[in-house]
Amino acid sequence: MKKTVCTFREMKERGEKISMLTCYDYSTARLMDGHVDAVLVGDSLGNTMLGYPDTLSVTMEDMITFGRAVSRGMQETFVVIDMPFMSYQASMEQAMINAGRLMKEGRAQAVKLEGGASVCPQIKAMTTAGIPVMAHIGLTPQSVNAFGGNRVQGKSEEAARQLIEDALAVQEAGAFSVVLECIPAELAAVITAKLDIPTIGIGGGTGCDGQILVYQDMLGMFTDFKPKFVKHFGNIGEEMTKAFDAYNEEVKGGLFPDDAHSFHMGHPETLERLYYVKSSDAPKEEERKLG
Ligand code: KIV
Repeated sequence: MKKTVCTFREMKERGEKISMLTCYDYSTARLMDGHVDAVLVGDSLGNTMLGYPDTLSVTMEDMITFGRAVSRGMQETFVVIDMPFMSYQASMEQAMINAGRLMKEGRAQAVKLEGGASVCPQIKAMTTAGIPVMAHIGLTPQSVNAFGGNRVQGKSEEAARQLIEDALAVQEAGAFSVVLECIPAELAAVITAKLDIPTIGIGGGTGCDGQILVYQDMLGMFTDFKPKFVKHFGNIGEEMTKAFDAYNEEVKGGLFPDDAHSFHMGHPETLERLYYVKSSDAPKEEERKLG
């Protein structure tokens, strides 16, 4: 059965942990469906799928293309699509149109946007319009330039208090869940205890109601950098490289494709006749058009 926003509220009430991963394409969606509670088509696709150094260049069109592919592959798992940088900040009208596009064209079940109290008007308007919103506070990668790098947030008392206020504000505005990224585990646990809505941690310790990781990170497929909070649950990157090498060797050695992976002519006489076809026998362009 397809998971819904209600599933998450109920899981928090039961004290059941929520598992989330990012997902960006149909084949991976088919493999992940039913194996995690929710996926995020994150704008981290800017790094993992498009090779940008950050998420700032990701467009609405990118999010719709990847989001739609993932939604098509998910029968059980809940799908959240990220709102890219500057798709919800410039005006309320733009924010609403873009959130609507992610739902209508991307087939999202919810959208995610970064920020605390500053984006509460957008969260309120979206949820009033029937668009479930996942909030995201702490290290918000779209603000990397304002932070001066990807740093742990909320370490001082003042910063921690601000994050608690932001968390309460997004809940009050109507968010159904909030991502806590790269904050001290103790602070994440305090925020989780204060909120009725589930918290999803990434670099937020075990006290969160759920966890999310970028799937290429947890599979050891993304080697550009490895944040401290990433654990490898598999070495798929290594397996892929091994398979690419094996394919390369078999192609160069003439071993692939073998008979089991090839097709054959039905009648040997047909094949024999083909050897006598001369290029001058080929019909001229005009003749071909006339049939
Ligand atoms: O874009 C993303 O992948 C994210 C998560 C890592 C929370 O925002």
